[in-house]
Amino acid sequence: MSPVIRPMRPEDVPVAERVSDEGFFELDSRMRPADAPAPERRSDTHRAVWIQRTLHFVHHDPGGCWVAEDETGMVGMATSFRRETLWCLATYAVLPGRQGQGIGKPLLAAAMDYGSACTRAMLSASSDTKAVRIYRQAGFDLHPQMYLTGVVHRSAIPVVEKVREGSAADTDLMDSLDRAARGAGHGVDHGLMLRTWRLLVSDTSTGAGYAYLDERGRLALLAASNRRTAVRLLWATLAEAPEQATVGHVTAANQWVLDVCLAAGLRLHQEGYLGLRGMKPPAPYVHNGALL
Ligand SMILES: CC(C)(COP(=O)(O)OP(=O)(O)OC[C@H]1O[C@@H](n2cnc3c(N)ncnc32)[C@H](O)[C@@H]1OP(=O)(O)O)[C@@H](O)C(=O)NCCC(=O)NCCS
Repeated sequence: MSPVIRPMRPEDVPVAERVSDEGFFELDSRMRPADAPAPERRSDTHRAVWIQRTLHFVHHDPGGCWVAEDETGMVGMATSFRRETLWCLATYAVLPGRQGQGIGKPLLAAAMDYGSACTRAMLSASSDTKAVRIYRQAGFDLHPQMYLTGVVHRSAIPVVEKVREGSAADTDLMDSLDRAARGAGHGVDHGLMLRTWRLLVSDTSTGAGYAYLDERGRLALLAASNRRTAVRLLWATLAEAPEQATVGHVTAANQWVLDVCLAAGLRLHQEGYLGLRGMKPPAPYVHNGALL
């Protein structure tokens, strides 16, 4: 029996989390370079954050969240959301043993239908050969993503001034910065991020910007009105980073990230793509993998 594609309900979310974890763990194991450490399963904290975020999508964008189900249970899932004129794909996975059998494409078609009135679209793609084939067929331009990892050289960190803790009072400012960078505010997603993550803000007479640090202390999202402010915020996040730092989701339009991270002693790698429709890579901007 071929799977049925139906809307995701709140009670599906813990099962969807398992499907996504299976899909990405198998992908990480398959794509891992020989010298890279073995991939790890999601931690309990990471699972809880994933579930909270997906419940947020199901609540605000029920028309953008879908599952594929057959007599064995859930075999695939896709979550997406609309913010103003922008449609974003948050997560998309099919169980490893069921991939390449035509389950993923109708799932993505259902999610994309929800964004059919949007003029722009964003997604952060894995390097999975099937995923990139499907995204390109769906009209996405694929922009390679870089990431930087390593131990931050503390002595390289400059004195960072004009950065403060942020709060919900900064939401309008952040939405304005989002609109300038990607054409749409994060809107309700700022509420989610403010509940889950730490916010740093820089707001001076010459420029403004913000950066979120995730539950692991890593940079989760950064937007700024100019490069100088973006650089200041990135140094501030590296100053707060755990011993093993990672800065991900860097596009070629954001060479300033390389300048800062290489000066901090991190190593440069490449992984996945920023998929875009109807827009150019945002800059100065470091997107989030799910909230874009
Ligand atoms: C990406 C994913 C959701 C797609 O779901 P799926 O059920 O595998 O996709 P489908 O079977 O509907 O379509 C796969 C396409 O790739 C092709 N394909 C199948 N096996 C392939 C392979 N090994 N290499 C390249 N292409 C392949 C299929 O022919 C089909 O393309 P076509 O219709 O033009 O012929 C799924 O593969 C997955 O979960 N991957 C791991 C997690 C991941 O990368 N998710 C996306 C994150 S952004």
